[in-house]
Amino acid sequence: MNYLAPSVLSADFSTLGNDIATVATAGAPIIHLDVMDGKFVPNISFGAPVISSVRKVTDAIFDVHLMIEEPSRYLEDFSKAGADIITVHYEACQDVAATLMQIRELGVKVGLSISPDTPADVLKPFLSQVDMILIMSVYPGFGGQKFIDASIDKIKVVRDMADELELNGLWIEVDGGIGADNIVSVMEAGANVFVAGSAVFKGDMVANVKALNAKIQ
Ligand code: DX5
Ligand code: ZN
Repeated sequence: MNYLAPSVLSADFSTLGNDIATVATAGAPIIHLDVMDGKFVPNISFGAPVISSVRKVTDAIFDVHLMIEEPSRYLEDFSKAGADIITVHYEACQDVAATLMQIRELGVKVGLSISPDTPADVLKPFLSQVDMILIMSVYPGFGGQKFIDASIDKIKVVRDMADELELNGLWIEVDGGIGADNIVSVMEAGANVFVAGSAVFKGDMVANVKALNAKIQ
């Protein structure tokens, strides 16, 4: 199954709840929530209280992407706020395996992400421990950047590793610079969850969701 996951980073935060409800109703099954701490990435976005308050507006899957240093400190907060998937960065964890296990114990789905400069093979020891791999196709921190083309090969490598380990249910999510012009190449490389921030929230959100959805069905 393929899933579109609008990233609210490009939404108008004065109407965040409404915008989330609008894109979910238009057909987005997953809402991607980018949490940034100003340390792991140079930007600060929002935290658990905001997620908890917008949780009320939709039953869509809440996919929380933690771009924060040592995320184990806050996992329980994000689970309580209503996350369905919590993704941490390989580069941000002191003990990756223990952090993934901590997410699992909270009863939410487990995601592990790598930034563009991190090679895909670091993921191998953790693949059977996670529900989703998140490949960053831009440097984390900001919406609206250009897709890094080398990400296509990285997606293929991860899909091959998953096939080799017979992890057929593993989700591969790609985040950054995805739009109508490249979403099909990302899908053909082996991804099945497509994050899109500016491509959804700039302009007509409903039309954007429908157009992107049509390309991945
Ligand atoms: C970047 C974030 C992305 C970003 C995607 O650090 O993780 O989710 O908002 O935005 P676009 O689709 O505009 O690149
Ligand atoms: Zn993200």
